[in-house]
Amino acid sequence: MRRALSALTALVSLAAVAACSPATPSTAPGPAPSTLKDAFAGRFLVGAALNESQFTEQDSRGVPIVKAQFNTVTPENILKWENVHPRHGEYAFDAPDRYVAFGERNGMFIVGHTLVWHQQTPRWVFFDASGSRVSRDTLLARLRDHIQTVVGRYKGRIKGWDVVNEAVDEDGSLRKSLWLEIIGPDYIEKAFQWANEADPQAELYYNDYSVENAPKRNGIVALVKNLQAKGIRVTAVGLQGHNRLDWPTLAQQDSTIGAFVALGVKVAITELDIDVLPRATRAQTADVSLSAAPSAGLNPYAAGLPDSVQQALAKRYADLFGVYMKHRDAITRVTFWGVTDGDSWLNGWPVRGRTSYPLLFDRAGKPKPAFDAVIRATERPAFVP
Ligand code: XIL
Repeated sequence: MRRALSALTALVSLAAVAACSPATPSTAPGPAPSTLKDAFAGRFLVGAALNESQFTEQDSRGVPIVKAQFNTVTPENILKWENVHPRHGEYAFDAPDRYVAFGERNGMFIVGHTLVWHQQTPRWVFFDASGSRVSRDTLLARLRDHIQTVVGRYKGRIKGWDVVNEAVDEDGSLRKSLWLEIIGPDYIEKAFQWANEADPQAELYYNDYSVENAPKRNGIVALVKNLQAKGIRVTAVGLQGHNRLDWPTLAQQDSTIGAFVALGVKVAITELDIDVLPRATRAQTADVSLSAAPSAGLNPYAAGLPDSVQQALAKRYADLFGVYMKHRDAITRVTFWGVTDGDSWLNGWPVRGRTSYPLLFDRAGKPKPAFDAVIRATERPAFVP
């Protein structure tokens, strides 16, 4: 009996030792955090752009991911001018109200996208009933009314606004948009001033794509400097981050963030995705007006993503997050442009009907190898040029 008892005790203590001793050497990483927001807590927020079926909680696959993983949200479309202000004197606040309520219910940092853009803005804004361009004063009055009304409605609730989106061209000059042509270059400072007046506490951003290319980046640096010299408040520059496996280089990403840190503004990665599909055009652009003809060659992974590409995507995400970690003191948030691969705008742009794989969750809502690579970013050394 005693022998049996002591044998049992020995067994129990052996089991206890086994339970306590690490299965892997002590230098190995512990269990990874299970969510993106936890992994980067104390560094930067992590977010996603939401479509309407997400913030109205129709999307039973996407919503649990959003609630579990993210602590900041951006509306993919519903706060763009054509949606929130489709006709003269007519605002459509139903969807934006629901978006903001979703963010508040879930304790998230709520972003507004976007006040001034040359895309997804109705023709009535720029043209009168006879088809002629409106005057500078008319367009300024319309812009002011729009900003006061939209920012004012969500004052204290939407915490940061993309005030001006994509105002700079690839060569660094101001884009020849109707805003520039009708008002002149001061439309940008007016927009920031009016946004500031409508909500002095809100963060105010200049947001753009392909900022990593030097000529464009230099133009944006000059633009921000000019606003600062005039005493206009700019909180952060948003780097959209519509990336590819081979663009931008890590050195380009690093020096671009560094260029804005040197100006004393914060940096946000605002629309992150990584396109693994073949280029449809030569230019490195996220110009939403671009479109190219579909072809089988442009849609090579319709039946599934080969493991080699899956791994390349994970590595690429790991590398980019290494750069973000280096600049974690300046980076306020990293926002993905969509939740799952099935939601991504890259299934329809610039070629319709492709099967794209740019995000961290697959079409079934399962985390991809890229998710693990991102979550482990805090355990790896940050990028060193
Ligand atoms: C895209 C949306 O994802 C699409 O649903 C819409 O059809 C077009 O716009 N830069 C931006 C975003 O600032 O607003 C764009 O979003 C993607 C490029």
